Amino acid sequence: MRPEFPGLWKVVESRRLLWLVGLTFALIVTFQYIELPNTISSLFSSTKFPSSRNSTSLTRDSQHQSHSSNLSPAMPPSFPQKNATLVDDSGGGDGDEEVEVDKIFDTSGNATAPANATSHVASAEPPAALPLVKVEATAPTVSPSHVKENATAPVASANPPAALPLVKVNATAPTVSPSEVKENATAPAASAEPPAALPALNRSPVKENATTSQVEEDKKSTKTDAGSVSPVVRFVPDVKENSKMPDSGVMSISEMSKQLRRNRISHNRLAKKPKWVTKPDLELLQAKHEIENAPIDEKDPLLYAPLYRNVSIFKRSYELMEKMLKVYVYKEGDKPIMHSPILRGIYASEGWFMKLIESNNNKFVTKDASKAHLFYLPFSSRMLEVTLYVQDSHSHRNLIQYLKDYIDFISVKYPFWNRTSGADHFLAACHDWAPSETRKHFAKSIRALCNSDVKEGFVFGKDTSLPETFVRDPKKPLSNIGGKSASQRPTLAFFAGKPDHGYLRPILLSYWGNDKDPDLKIFGKLPRTKGNKNYLQFMKTSKYCICAKGFEVNSPRVVEAIFYDCVPVIISDNFVPPFFEVLNWESFALFVAERDIPNLKKILMSVSERRYRQMQMRVKRVQKHFLWHVKPEKYDMFHMILHSVWFNRVFQISV
Ligand SMILES: *[C@@H]1O[C@H](CO)[C@@H](O)[C@H](O)[C@H]1NC(C)=O
Ligand SMILES: *[C@@H]1O[C@H](CO)[C@@H](O)[C@H](O)[C@H]1NC(C)=O
Ligand SMILES: *[C@@H]1O[C@H](CO)[C@@H](O)[C@H](O)[C@H]1NC(C)=O
Ligand SMILES: *[C@@H]1O[C@H](CO)[C@@H](O)[C@H](O)[C@H]1NC(C)=O
Ligand SMILES: *[C@@H]1O[C@H](CO)[C@@H](O)[C@H](O)[C@H]1NC(C)=O
Ligand SMILES: *[C@@H]1O[C@H](CO)[C@@H](O)[C@H](O)[C@H]1NC(C)=O
Ligand SMILES: *[C@@H]1O[C@H](CO)[C@@H](O)[C@H](O)[C@H]1NC(C)=O
Ligand SMILES: *[C@@H]1O[C@H](CO)[C@@H](O)[C@H](O)[C@H]1NC(C)=O
Ligand SMILES: *[C@@H]1O[C@H](CO)[C@@H](O)[C@H](O)[C@H]1NC(C)=O
Ligand SMILES: *[C@@H]1O[C@H](CO)[C@@H](O)[C@H](O)[C@H]1NC(C)=O
Repeated sequence: MRPEFPGLWKVVESRRLLWLVGLTFALIVTFQYIELPNTISSLFSSTKFPSSRNSTSLTRDSQHQSHSSNLSPAMPPSFPQKNATLVDDSGGGDGDEEVEVDKIFDTSGNATAPANATSHVASAEPPAALPLVKVEATAPTVSPSHVKENATAPVASANPPAALPLVKVNATAPTVSPSEVKENATAPAASAEPPAALPALNRSPVKENATTSQVEEDKKSTKTDAGSVSPVVRFVPDVKENSKMPDSGVMSISEMSKQLRRNRISHNRLAKKPKWVTKPDLELLQAKHEIENAPIDEKDPLLYAPLYRNVSIFKRSYELMEKMLKVYVYKEGDKPIMHSPILRGIYASEGWFMKLIESNNNKFVTKDASKAHLFYLPFSSRMLEVTLYVQDSHSHRNLIQYLKDYIDFISVKYPFWNRTSGADHFLAACHDWAPSETRKHFAKSIRALCNSDVKEGFVFGKDTSLPETFVRDPKKPLSNIGGKSASQRPTLAFFAGKPDHGYLRPILLSYWGNDKDPDLKIFGKLPRTKGNKNYLQFMKTSKYCICAKGFEVNSPRVVEAIFYDCVPVIISDNFVPPFFEVLNWESFALFVAERDIPNLKKILMSVSERRYRQMQMRVKRVQKHFLWHVKPEKYDMFHMILHSVWFNRVFQISV
C-alpha cells in the first residue's frame, strides 16, 4: 500500500495545482473588472492568460462552454438579470425643446445619482480606465465558443508610440485615398501607451459601482444562459464575438472593418442553417452570388464611389433588394408597444422605420409569409419603456419579459421563428436600453440599434447600426437642411450638449470649454434661443461638428452634422457608425479616440484645406442616405436601413 501513496499524492497535488491555476485565473478576471492599477492587471493578463487557457478547456462544445463561462466573468454583460438596477433615462425625448439634442436623462432630477445604477453597464466603462491599457489583455480566454484566434481586438497596438500628442496627429487625419484610409486613417485609439494627459475627471462612484456589480450580473446571466433549455438562447456565439476585447479596450474603425470581414467570411458561424430550406432562402443564396460577382460600376452618378466600401457591391445589392426583397410584418401585438410609431424626438428612427414599412403601399411588404426573406418585429423600444417601465424600479425585467412573451407567442402561432431561431427576423430599436433588452432573446436576429456599441454585444455582420435622428417636426423632417459652403465656415469646431452627460463631456469641456481656444466653440448648455437658432447656426457655419458620446455611444449629432453639411468628428470609442456595412466612414468623417481629446485641435488643424473640402463635399453627397421622407425615396434612410438588414441576411445565409 505504502509505495502507492506517493503516486496518489502526485495525482492529488496536480489536481490541486489545476484548481489553483483556475482560481488564479478567475481572480485575475475579476480584478480586471475592479480596475486594479493598470500595470498590475496588464502584467497579470499578459502572463497568466495564455497559461490558463488550456486548463479551462475552452472547447467548442456547449457543455464545456457553460463550464468555462463560469470561470470567465469577463464576458460582455448579457442582459441585466433579476436585480438589475437601471438608470432611468426617460422623461420626454419627445416634444423636447432643449437646445441639446441628447437623450433626456433626468428631467425628474432623480436619475442623476443612482448610486447603484447599472443600466448601461457596458458603456459605463470606468472613465479612469481610459489610461488603463492592457497590452496583452486581449483575453482570448473569454470567449469559449468559436474562438477565432485572430478576432482579438486590435487594442494592443504592436508599436506603442513613444510620445503621446504628435504621433497621432497624422494618423488621425484620414488620407486622401479611400483605400489607404481604411488601413491607416483611424485614430490609433488603441495604442498602447496611457494617455497620461487625461485626468480622471469623472471617476464617479456611479461608474465604479456599475462596473463592479456588472461582474455579478454577468455571473448570474451566464449561468442562466448555460442552463437554459431554449435553443434560441443556448447558441449565442455572436454575443461573444467581440468579447475578445479587453475590458478597457477600444476597437478602432479599421479593426471594426476587419471584424466585419472576418464575420462575413465565416458567415455560417453567425446563422445556423435553417431547419428546412425555403424558396426565399434559395433566392437569397442567388442574390449573394450575384452580389459577390457584381459588375464593376464605379461611375454611377448617384453613387459617389469613395463613400462606399465597395460601390459596385452596394449598387448591385441595392438593385437586388429593390427587385426581390419581401418582408413579412407581424400583425400580432397590441398598441402602444407594438405598431405605435413615434415620429418625433431623439428615438424617432425606430418610429419612422415602423411607420414607413407598415404603411399600406410599401412595396417590400408581403402578406404571404412563405415569400418573405425577412420578418419584421414591429415593436418600439421607446414605447416599451414608456409603457412598462416602473418609475424608479431600476428594473427592466418586465420589459424583457414582454418581448420574450411576444416571441413565444409568434413562435407557437407560426413556424417562421423556429425555422431559423429568429435569424431571418429583425427589429429596429433606438432606445438606450434596446441592446440589453434584446440581447438574449434576439441573439440570432438582426438588430438595427441606435446604441450600437461594440461593448454592448453588437455583432458585426449580424446587427446593424441604426442612425439616431432627432426629428423636431415630423411633418417637415427636412426643414433647415444644409449649411454654408466649405469656405464660409469660420468656426473650426463646434459642440454643445449637456455637460454632465456621461464621463466624456467633462473631459471635453475641461480641455476645450469656456472659450479656452477661440477656434473651438465647445459649450455645455447653449443659451436658449427661439427655434434653436444658435445651435443650428453653429452647425451650419462650423467646419467640424463634434459628436461626443453622452451616456451611450450614439448621438443624434452624427446625423445632424451630415444634415447641416458639417464634417462629423466622432469622439465615442467603440461606436459602430450607421450603415457600417456599406459606407466608408473615414472618407467623410473623422474619428478621434477619446483619449486624444487633448490633441483635438492639433488633429483638426492637421487636416489640409484640400482634404477638408473633399470631406465636406462627401458629407453633402452622403447626406441623402440620412434623410427621412414622408414618402420614401431611393437611397434614403428608410431604404438604407432596410438595405443593411437585407445585406446582413444575404451574407449570413447558408442552407
Ligand atoms: C493545450 O492546448 C494545445 C493546443 O491548443 C493542446 O495541443 C494541448 O494538448 C493542450 N494542453 C492541455 C494540457 O490541455
Ligand atoms: C433582489 O432584490 C430583492 C430586494 O431588493 C431581494 O430580496 C432579493 O434577494 C434579490 N435577489 C437577488 C437574486 O439578488
Ligand atoms: C424624485 O425624487 C423625489 C424625492 O427625491 C420624489 O419625491 C419624486 O417623486 C421623484 N420623482 C420621480 C419622477 O420619481
Ligand atoms: C442603492 O444603494 C444604496 C447604497 O449604496 C442603498 O441604500 C439603496 O437601497 C440602493 N438602492 C437600490 C434600489 O438598490
Ligand atoms: C490567424 O492568424 C494565424 C497566424 O497568427 C494565421 O495563420 C491565420 O490565417 C489567421 N486567420 C485569419 C482568419 O486571419
Ligand atoms: C503630418 O501632417 C503634416 C500636415 O498634414 C505634414 O506636414 C507632416 O509632414 C506629416 N508628418 C508625417 C510624419 O507624415
Ligand atoms: C499604412 O499602413 C501600411 C502598413 O500598415 C504602411 O505600409 C503604409 O505606408 C501606411 N500608409 C500611410 C499613408 O501611412
Ligand atoms: C457605490 O459607491 C459608493 C461610493 O464609492 C459607495 O458608498 C456605495 O456603497 C457603493 N454601492 C455599491 C452598491 O457598491
Ligand atoms: C468590389 O467588389 C467587386 C465584386 O466582388 C470586386 O470585383 C471589386 O474588385 C471590388 N472593388 C474594390 C475596389 O474592392
Ligand atoms: C417553436 O419552438 C417552441 C419551443 O421550442 C415550441 O414551444 C413551439 O411549439 C414551436 N413552434 C412551432 C410552430 O412548432
